[in-house]
Amino acid sequence: MADLKDPLPFADGAFDDVVASLVLHYLEDWGPTLAELRRVLAPGGRLIASVDHPFVAYTIQEPRPDYSAVTSYSFDWMLDGQLVPMRFWRRPLHAMTDAFTAAGFRLAAFSEPQPDPAAREVFPEDFPGLSAKPVFLFFVLEVPPATT
Ligand SMILES: C[S@@+](CC[C@H](N)C(=O)[O-])C[C@H]1O[C@@H](n2cnc3c(N)ncnc32)[C@H](O)[C@@H]1O
Repeated sequence: MADLKDPLPFADGAFDDVVASLVLHYLEDWGPTLAELRRVLAPGGRLIASVDHPFVAYTIQEPRPDYSAVTSYSFDWMLDGQLVPMRFWRRPLHAMTDAFTAAGFRLAAFSEPQPDPAAREVFPEDFPGLSAKPVFLFFVLEVPPATT
C-alpha cells in the first residue's frame, strides 16, 4: 500500500483515470499528493475524488472551528474490536478548489450527492435525514489535453 504523502511508484502519465474515494480528508496538506496524482495522469486524464462535506465537520465540532481555516478533528473508530483514533482534516470548499487548480487540474464536474432513491425502502428511518443534509462532495478534475 502506498502512503499518499509520499511520491507514487508510477511513471509520468501512466493512467487515464485516478479515483480518490474518501481519502483526501485524511491529509493535512493536499499539495504534494495532488501534484503526484496530476503527474501520473495522462493529458486529458481525470481525477475522480470524493471527500467528506466540509459543512458536516464544521457543524459537529464544538466549539465551531474557523470555517475558513484548515482544521483537524478526531474520532475513535472501532476496528477489529479495538478503538482506533482517526484524525481528519476539514477545509473550506475554496481551499479544495484552490488546491486542485494549483496542481494543474480543471474542475469538470462537482456535486453534493443525494442518497439513491432506492435506499428509501431499505433505510426508511435514516433516509429523510440523509436526504436533507450534505454528507459528501464529488469532484471530477481534468488534466488539460496535450497541446500540439
Ligand atoms: C473511509 S476509507 C475509504 C476506503 C475506500 N476508498 C472507499 O471509498 O470505500 C479511507 C481510506 O483512506 C486510506 N488512507 C488514509 N490515509 C492515507 C494515506 N496517507 N495514504 C494512503 N491511504 C490513506 C485508509 O487506509 C482507508 O483505506
